[in-house]
Amino acid sequence: MQIGVPAESRGRKSLVAATPDTVKSLVSQGRSVTVESGAGECAHYTDDAYRKAGAQIGDAASAFGAQIVLKVASPTASELSLMKPGAVLAGMLDPFNTDNTARLAAAGVTAFALEAAPRTTRAQSLDVLSSQANIAGYKAVLVAAEHYPRFMPMLMTAAGTVKAARVLVLGAGVAGLQAIATAKRLGAVVEASDVRPAVKEQIESLGAKFLDVPYETDDEREAAQGVGGYARPMPASWLARQAALVHERAKQADVIITTALIPGRAAPTLISVETVQAMKPGSVIVDLAAGRGPEFEGRKGGNCPLTEVDKVVQKHGVTIVGHANLASMVPADASALYARNLLDFLKLIVTREGALSIDLADDIVAATLLCRNGEVTNKSKGQ
Ligand code: NAI
Repeated sequence: MQIGVPAESRGRKSLVAATPDTVKSLVSQGRSVTVESGAGECAHYTDDAYRKAGAQIGDAASAFGAQIVLKVASPTASELSLMKPGAVLAGMLDPFNTDNTARLAAAGVTAFALEAAPRTTRAQSLDVLSSQANIAGYKAVLVAAEHYPRFMPMLMTAAGTVKAARVLVLGAGVAGLQAIATAKRLGAVVEASDVRPAVKEQIESLGAKFLDVPYETDDEREAAQGVGGYARPMPASWLARQAALVHERAKQADVIITTALIPGRAAPTLISVETVQAMKPGSVIVDLAAGRGPEFEGRKGGNCPLTEVDKVVQKHGVTIVGHANLASMVPADASALYARNLLDFLKLIVTREGALSIDLADDIVAATLLCRNGEVTNKSKGQ
């Protein structure tokens, strides 16, 4: 069984899908691994380290020509043309992007999108959304601190007292909870909000204040329960009350970190233009939903319409950070965790003897399989 690890050419360029550690494990299991020369360079894993772990170092054609190809982002058209029909591709392949899935199916590869794994205990060790969101939440706070023109912690100095920064976190999933924990460690005063009532306790256990928007109808209560642990779009009545509360809290905040996503749909607008106008000069918004929100003035914003993807912009005296891929700004650990996710995933589709075995009775395999033998296997991912 030959496994290929190409260098990333787009999107998540600084990441790599295998590290010397995971290569070592694969080799000890009897697999043969080819890593494209320089694939780990941006994440600080050298060709030499891969070689010592037992990999062969090759070119792009030899990495893409393997029976199983481990990627971070979807391959480009020219990369895909290097893959053999019937070969397996595993990565973060954007399962809701039907055009991309059709393209992979047309190339005849068997593709697995790890983002589509169910949120179950068994799937936890291969949960790429969690491993990357955790890092993004941490980095969001550090990026905010870098752009914030004041201290984060409260300081009592001979020259006077400095107030602690007030951080507002909107969306308390994996990224939001890590952002809360990181902002607390930096000494900020933190408050947070989410649609799902289950997060109240988690927010409070991290020492932050939960901003409650009580439900007034059964419709609101039911939507807030979400589906499969994920949020569903909330009724307009609840969103209006949430917007009013967020507007009031945003006026007091120094830093806002927004992380609200709804799988397969545009991210909700949580910080309106009017709210940005009402914020304090010098305050900072880090928008983890950058590029995934509704269209505004001809381009997609994030949880704030003024966010611009992969840019840091000043609007109405507020700095808005729209890095779409914060996890890749922590490339060594983001790659290490992602590579371990893939290593665990491979156990589900490769037998101990090294044969490929795609068992659709396995809920994780079935959920992540995008296409096989030229056919899109799970159309529901695109709906
Ligand atoms: P996500 O990245 O899809 O969304 C981020 C957060 O935004 C969520 O908490 C969501 O409720 C919130 N949100 C959506 N619309 C909002 C709005 N209008 N206002 C405020 N907040 C809003 O979520 P993530 O981090 O992927 O987590 C999703 C769920 O999966 C959570 O329940 C989490 O606990 C669960 N989970 C379960 C795992 C497991 O059991 N294996 C592993 C990881 C997460």
